[in-house]
Amino acid sequence: MVTGGGTGIGYAIAAGFAQAGDTVTVTGRRASVLTEAAVLLGARAVCFDAADPAAVEQALPELPDQIDVLVNNAGGNTDFLRDDSRDLKTLDAAWTANFRANFFTAALVTSAVRERISDHGRIVTVGSIAAHTGVGSYAWAKAALEVWNADIARYLGPRGITANIVAPGLVVDTGFFHGKLTDERRELLIGNTMTKRAGRPEDVVEAVRFLAAPAAGHVTGQVVHVNGGAHVG
Ligand SMILES: NC(=O)c1ccc[n+]([C@@H]2O[C@H](COP(=O)([O-])OP(=O)(O)OC[C@H]3O[C@@H](n4cnc5c(N)ncnc54)[C@H](OP(=O)(O)O)[C@@H]3O)[C@@H](O)[C@H]2O)c1
Repeated sequence: MVTGGGTGIGYAIAAGFAQAGDTVTVTGRRASVLTEAAVLLGARAVCFDAADPAAVEQALPELPDQIDVLVNNAGGNTDFLRDDSRDLKTLDAAWTANFRANFFTAALVTSAVRERISDHGRIVTVGSIAAHTGVGSYAWAKAALEVWNADIARYLGPRGITANIVAPGLVVDTGFFHGKLTDERRELLIGNTMTKRAGRPEDVVEAVRFLAAPAAGHVTGQVVHVNGGAHVG
């Protein structure tokens, strides 16, 4: 099950599992985007807002009874969709939006399906380089995920379940930037890498698939960086 599997990194992750013959469920809020992706993937689509507890609960009957791999990928920087206002009420709303979009999505979905995750199952959550390099409330929310991940890894470890974060750097060809990535910023981020290129969704897929593999059962509570060396983990 891949949250936010209708586009970008989540879609690529879902495609990786589908191509390997796994039964895949993708989730997201936009029904048309999700349905179209699910048809291409040969996956099931379940449409709900993962940041809304009531919506997650309502979606539960449609979600798989047994989940071998949960990928908490839904998220994004909600500041791209807001005005850059500095009054406290607006800041409160902006910070809350990023926490809901990035922390609550993963924590709510994982809590809701916890008992459906198979023994020796895998949880992989998509964090961000921003948790280490700091880009406002988006970064704070992704940093909170790392502490939360350690908690669930400890809690679910006795069942053989692992929980890890994959933290990408710049990944292009996704919906993340909402058209707001300037050429200048793109070149700066590429310049920060050792590989001198932008990441692609496929780069993230391989890290997720490694962590999801049965043989990776002793790798848990970790953050795996996929950023071309832009941040050294
Ligand atoms: N691209 C990058 O440079 C980059 C770098 C580091 C980390 N990341 C992380 O990678 C993940 C995937 O992002 P992406 O780059 O692939 O961008 P994307 O194409 O915008 O993908 C985000 C997906 O999450 C879904 N989503 C967002 N909020 C949701 C919610 N509340 N409930 C359910 N689904 C939700 C979106 O679908 P709907 O809008 O239809 O719900 C969308 O399919 C995110 O967690 C992002 O923070 C991206």
